[in-house]
Amino acid sequence: MAFEHLQSLMSNVTDELRQRVRDELPELAEMRDQSLRDKSVEAWAIALANSSYPSISAIPPSGNPSKMVLKRGDQTDHIRGVTRLSIVIADEFARSNPDLRIDRDIVVAGGICHDVGKPWEYDPDNRKRWQDSPARFGMPSMRHPTYGAFLCLLVGLPEEVAHIAAGHSGEGELMVRSLENNIVHMADIGYWRTMLAGGMIVDGTISDKYKRPLSL
Ligand SMILES: [Fe+2]
Repeated sequence: MAFEHLQSLMSNVTDELRQRVRDELPELAEMRDQSLRDKSVEAWAIALANSSYPSISAIPPSGNPSKMVLKRGDQTDHIRGVTRLSIVIADEFARSNPDLRIDRDIVVAGGICHDVGKPWEYDPDNRKRWQDSPARFGMPSMRHPTYGAFLCLLVGLPEEVAHIAAGHSGEGELMVRSLENNIVHMADIGYWRTMLAGGMIVDGTISDKYKRPLSL
């Protein structure tokens, strides 16, 4: 990966790919701000165009590569589920606590884009490079939250959305999460915990942080 070729990252995107992202993520329509919607589509289209995956549904349905693998469905089920859960949480808090100043569009964009770095982290070519030379590149060189934040900034999404991509997962434990990031984080963690509790995670793929009891 040569980071000096940022322009080529963007030039690989086609209108067909943009349309595929729109078709795969109907929750984009929940965003009132057209530009936020278009930039969210662009971030996903760039992520896919520079990966081995032709679509979001082609990405394995898991939380991390080979971890928290869903027994059924595909990656769109997770992205869409977390986005809808985030909206429900945001709307409930807004209704019951009118003093909370929740930016609903940022919540929706955050849900849509929180895992936009996954095509990078899951990509077999990237994983082979990292596995072959961890001393040189790291393993991985960066996880999907970091690469996802990079993509958000690359397409001009606001810092608030990049922050959600950057901090929705473990990286966020080193930050103070924004209000909207807390909502997406709760939805994301809740998604995996609920699927695990319901027996929908493939045996042997459970991440340590979801295992109970942590200690006795
Ligand atoms: Fe996620």
